[in-house]
Amino acid sequence: ENTPSTLIMIFGATGDLAKRKLFPSLYQLYLKGKMSNNFALLGVGRREWSHDRFKDHVRDSLQASSHSKEHIESFIEHCAYQSHDVSDSDSYIQLKNLANELDQQFELCGNRIFYLAMAPEFFGTITDHLKQDGLTDTKGFCRLVIEKPFGHDLASASALNEQIRKSFSEEQIYRIDHYLGKEMVQNIEVIRFANAIFEPQWNSRFISNIQITSSETLGVEERGRYYETSGALRDMVQNHMLQMVALLAMEPPIRLSTDEIRSEKVRVFRAMRPIEGTEVDDYFVRGQYAEGTVNGTDVDSYRNGENVDPTSNTETFVAGKVMIDNFRWAGVPFFIRTGKRMTVKSTKIVVQFKDIPMNLYYNKEHSLDPNLLVIHIQPDEGVTLHLNAKKTSQGIDTKPVKLSYSASSIDGINTPEAYEKLLYDCILGDATNFTHWDEVKHSWSFVDKISTHWESTTEESFPNYASGSMGPAKSDELLAQEGFEWWPIGELDVKKTI
Ligand code: BG6
Repeated sequence: ENTPSTLIMIFGATGDLAKRKLFPSLYQLYLKGKMSNNFALLGVGRREWSHDRFKDHVRDSLQASSHSKEHIESFIEHCAYQSHDVSDSDSYIQLKNLANELDQQFELCGNRIFYLAMAPEFFGTITDHLKQDGLTDTKGFCRLVIEKPFGHDLASASALNEQIRKSFSEEQIYRIDHYLGKEMVQNIEVIRFANAIFEPQWNSRFISNIQITSSETLGVEERGRYYETSGALRDMVQNHMLQMVALLAMEPPIRLSTDEIRSEKVRVFRAMRPIEGTEVDDYFVRGQYAEGTVNGTDVDSYRNGENVDPTSNTETFVAGKVMIDNFRWAGVPFFIRTGKRMTVKSTKIVVQFKDIPMNLYYNKEHSLDPNLLVIHIQPDEGVTLHLNAKKTSQGIDTKPVKLSYSASSIDGINTPEAYEKLLYDCILGDATNFTHWDEVKHSWSFVDKISTHWESTTEESFPNYASGSMGPAKSDELLAQEGFEWWPIGELDVKKTI
């Protein structure tokens, strides 16, 4: 589907996100012919850049994605820049004039997307001005895209939401959770709802537990200032991890519309067992990385990082048990785990099925492994089903086997970047893979209770895991208490199918 004519106005256009993700993604859409030729990209930033300086910047960001100079140049023709002061009305009037000019020049029908790729403290000021100074006063559609963090807790997120809602309706707001743009995260629903074999088993009668791990090898790097106010719980759990829980746990929607899917997800958030006070210690584990070795390189501890308090209590790792108290999931733990400076960079979901009622093969060479459905989100993308089969021999010994499917169709080439898909959806007006305020509200309320408890107690054992490990020992104990263990983060063993 080709996108409608649009002016894409990026606030924070001289920043890192725009350079690394947004320009290359828009360019890919353009290259693939998915973008209407009637588009303009208006970069907005504090720096006093000329149009040409900005065009050079965009050109630089595209070098890695294609060698076709001609294509890059025709894309660059659609770019313009305005230096801007976010709190000054005159600045917005100038911006409006430039937007109107571009509107005429590229025949954009007054359609506008305002993408706020910058620090959240400016979100409210910008949206107030966009409305007051008439930038949203057009005959086409106006949409607002906002990056995380959407607040620091429920109170600040609500305040932010209220302010934004003065200028944009919920339908016009696209809150980014880039995990929702990942190919295999989007595949969760298809695997569940397009296959007869899984859905009948997708409940507490057949599933013993579900494990979601998102591990990173990088540390906090130069983001210490932000991370000190955030920690892994706010940075990864409130959004990406709980979104994956919701997609795994939701009921089948009655149809694949944005509203139906969102309301099923919200019902999962509402069913999450709230954990508070000292109870948090039974359900959640926090960690902070010490020095260690990651991929053969020696690295320093979190506390020795740039812009980090040397006595910091900020967690860089979280493992938790999320219970969904509804009919389908009663008693089935969803174990989540995420952290920085771990052994590998990997996001995987393991659905562990219950053991068969009676094991006929028990006394043979080894006991039977449970069936597992592994969804490989990244870096490899695909699905593996673990089964038991007969060992090729005379007896009836069993052996574990795997059926694997790889979603990356061509070796070495990844499926479209999350941002490319999300930008495309937004231009088309499809908000399914963006988070609705109701989801954000419930996930903050769940997470706030945990952070409140953590902030009221000092974690004396910090740092408590070596860089390059899979987190503190307590994370293993969390599962051991229930008779489980974390499944190894194995790689998908096919690179290509069919
Ligand atoms: C971001 C977090 O939302 O997600 C980062 O702020 C984290 O701290 C990143 O590194 C992980 O994303 P991905 O796509 O690399 O798994």
